[in-house]
Amino acid sequence: MQISFAGSRPTGSYALILPVAGSNRDSLASLGEERAAVETAARSQRFEGEAGGSAEAFVEEGARRVLLVGTGTNGDASAEKLGGTAVAKLLLSGETHGALDLSGAGFSADAAGKVALAATLRAWRYDRYRTKLKDKQKPTLTELTIVGAPADAEARWTERYQPVAKGAALTRELVTEPANVIYPESFVDRCRAAMEGSGLEIEVLDGPAMEQHGMGALLGVSLGSVREPRLLIMRWNGGQDGTAPIALIGKGVTFDTGGISIKPAAGMESMKWDMGGAGAVVGAMLAIAGRKAKANVVGVCGLVENMPDGKAQRPGDVVTSMNGQTIEVINTDAEGRLVLADAITYTQQQFSPKVMVDLATLTGAMVISLGHEFAGVFSNDDQLAADLQAAGTASGDKLWRMPLGEAYDRLIDSPIADIKNVGPREGGSITAAQFLQRFVEEGVKWAHLDVAGVVWSDKPGTTYDKGATGFGVRLLDQFVEATAG
Ligand code: BES
Ligand code: MN
Ligand code: ZN
Repeated sequence: MQISFAGSRPTGSYALILPVAGSNRDSLASLGEERAAVETAARSQRFEGEAGGSAEAFVEEGARRVLLVGTGTNGDASAEKLGGTAVAKLLLSGETHGALDLSGAGFSADAAGKVALAATLRAWRYDRYRTKLKDKQKPTLTELTIVGAPADAEARWTERYQPVAKGAALTRELVTEPANVIYPESFVDRCRAAMEGSGLEIEVLDGPAMEQHGMGALLGVSLGSVREPRLLIMRWNGGQDGTAPIALIGKGVTFDTGGISIKPAAGMESMKWDMGGAGAVVGAMLAIAGRKAKANVVGVCGLVENMPDGKAQRPGDVVTSMNGQTIEVINTDAEGRLVLADAITYTQQQFSPKVMVDLATLTGAMVISLGHEFAGVFSNDDQLAADLQAAGTASGDKLWRMPLGEAYDRLIDSPIADIKNVGPREGGSITAAQFLQRFVEEGVKWAHLDVAGVVWSDKPGTTYDKGATGFGVRLLDQFVEATAG
């Protein structure tokens, strides 16, 4: 869907979208003679102008559909709901062009840019494999014109938010694709193609290169798969030369069967999105490069497939990580932490980051704790946790702080090695985070985001339909902007 900005309404046929702030109906004044009929229609649909609410009417002038979208009384904060709701209503409606008239609605340029972002995100779909869609099931809306926004809104969209929309689209494509299509090598290929001309520097390690680095934890996970592992490294150097980078690290398990500790059949297909952390990292890197951020950022994704096989690692095996720690693999299904352990070590050794944030669909226990609303944030630094939570609130990708501590850490001591890869069932997300923390070096500010509950949704939300949500892209982009530029 194409977004444009204009000073006045277009000519020809289009659906008119008007924001309505609660009981304030001033925005309807422009309807002239049609106003009374539209108000009656809205009332009969029990529309109260509440954020996310909507009502429709058809007016004679231009035989036009008028869509009222509620913005409540929260002003700029309702931007996302306005853009998302408008598109959700019109995407399959038969309308091809929508004109959203913000005249007099009081939105800032930034908020108008966010309206465009939410509209674009909500229009995203992936119909590649749906060859038999009926005409009525196909989207019709191809154009959205935003009318009457402040002068700087268009630049805000093209320079700040459109890159974020493009990043999120890459993330969602990778998360949506099945695991016979997206595996470590093809994940890298897709990223290379999407990042062409972005200014990102890309480097890729294959299996033998990782062996040279001694990445026994990551490579152990990969043993059961015919797909070769990869470590994908992306650099954006938009900040001052020599400033330590922010590092973003992603779990990229392109399919998680559990390995020899195999998962039950029911629902296993959802483990195609066990690369959602890595997906968010590549999307965020594309967004950061696209808006030419004045920051140094490095993205590192550990990409493997976790399969059962004669060559697969067994429960009880002991592997040695890149930083020399021995790990007893109690459960081959706790593979994400093994992948991240080596990705974290590599990142610290290569880039000496000032801050390190990892994202992973790490534990089912996280979904039990927080459901699908918040992702969990674990951190060794209160300021970092607060900065991430603030970015979460501002971007819509919300985070809830979870604890870490000595007593939890003791639960992953192994009787035969330095550490074991699972603790007891209770507090499973926390012991997983403790495992990661054992690989974080002294003095490095680190946060771990367990995104298991939020990368995929079984129901539509404001900025997505059922399916891949793109969680993490807006969050990381916002975090980088707020803390580094
Ligand atoms: N990828 C899963 C976590 C997961 C489960 C994400 C459900 C989303 C939905 C992870 O690799 C895993 O299998 N974790 C195990 C850990 C356990 C064996 C300690 C889990 O959560 O059951
Ligand atoms: Mn697993
Ligand atoms: Zn997993």
